[in-house]
Amino acid sequence: MTSEDVMTDLTEPVTVPVEAYVSRDYARAEQDRLWRKVWLQAARLEDIPNVGDFITYDILEDSVIVMRTGPDELRAFHNVCPHRGRRLIDTPPGARNARGNRTSIICGFHGWTFDRAGQCSFVNHQDDWQGKLTAERTALGRVRVDSWGGWAWITLNPDAEPLADYLGVVPEMLDPFGLANMRYRWRKWIIFDCNWKVALEAFSETYHVQTTHPEFNAFGEFRGWARQHGLHSNIGYDAPKNMDENQAKLRIGSGEDPRLSTAEMQLFTWENANTNTTMTLVNAATRLKDELPEGTPAPQVLQHWLASARADDAKRGVFWPVVEPAHTARSGTAWQIFPNFQIGHAVNNMLCYSARPYLGDPDKCIFEAAVYELFPEGEAPATEWEYTPPEAWPPVLQQDFTNMAAVQQGMKNIGFRGTQPNPYMERSVASLHHNLARYMGTGAPKPID
Ligand code: FES
Ligand SMILES: [Fe+2]
Repeated sequence: MTSEDVMTDLTEPVTVPVEAYVSRDYARAEQDRLWRKVWLQAARLEDIPNVGDFITYDILEDSVIVMRTGPDELRAFHNVCPHRGRRLIDTPPGARNARGNRTSIICGFHGWTFDRAGQCSFVNHQDDWQGKLTAERTALGRVRVDSWGGWAWITLNPDAEPLADYLGVVPEMLDPFGLANMRYRWRKWIIFDCNWKVALEAFSETYHVQTTHPEFNAFGEFRGWARQHGLHSNIGYDAPKNMDENQAKLRIGSGEDPRLSTAEMQLFTWENANTNTTMTLVNAATRLKDELPEGTPAPQVLQHWLASARADDAKRGVFWPVVEPAHTARSGTAWQIFPNFQIGHAVNNMLCYSARPYLGDPDKCIFEAAVYELFPEGEAPATEWEYTPPEAWPPVLQQDFTNMAAVQQGMKNIGFRGTQPNPYMERSVASLHHNLARYMGTGAPKPID
């Protein structure tokens, strides 16, 4: 194997220097080299369903207005007035973003007005500029926007490759799950005392489950894999040969009696994480002991559980897509979309995380988690991004949160020699830094001799 192979599939042990997590210079350089170059998930389309609906997205000092300008058309603009630079749309105090509907955008400073195409339709005393205020000089700056998976994606990079190219294998792997049809069940955000990479990496591997979430050990062993796919990576669970599907998110408990351990794991997950499952799945799991005889082999328990939950949902008008078991297995439990978005997919629900720097401080980040589900037509709940202090998050997530600031502090210790991610279970961490280094020009993982 050549060293290029090692760095491409990242199967060999590597060490990652701490610079990317703790260096102020690195954090400063991220603005130009990373955040202004990549495609970023900026909004969920369900937040802007009608023409004229807009939502703002901030990444460090840049702010973008994403607007629905036609039933099938999105436009995005730099959130800044071309006159003297006032931010056009303010974020309400304490809110994550601004959102609303406008026929035109009026700047609050001197009243310049912009239509939904971004063209300036009114300048007070325009003649004072002696004819020099051309349409081009007064129009809002356009930002490239595209959609995939039910999200709007933006890039501040005029020369970026098309979104479809950037996403690589991801659409092919996740489109069968119909992510665009899912709607928010809840969404929360918080500011952590750690770098955005520390926050994301806490969710992009399964190696921590045994220690950080010891309660899950009662439901079986959670040995997971991570794989590299160009810019992106995915994770899943090891499963016996005849149970390939159990590599995915909707999987059974591997206790002595899989009927009981699946029900216990589903109830525990619903009550303590409120993620990765739905009430339909929980109810179907609790019926397993009545519907299946003792001693039913695990593969049949999995099949029966999913088939009966699928049937229950169909009765209330919720139709799960059909995904080939082999595809489900390969897709695993979650995808890490470079650089800062994770999609934890299933046929009827998903859990997504993202993290962004906060005020350019390498020791702080904005962390977001959203749970989505398939709802009967028109029955999705109305939700908003809620700033949520740690103690108000589901207990399992609080367990993850206890590591954030402690990792950030620990990595600054003079005695720390760089991270050593598990090459099998934490390859997603190596993948992130391998790709970050391509943008940043520094911080590449090094093979461990
Ligand atoms: S800064 Fe916007 S109108 Fe003057
Ligand atoms: Fe966790």
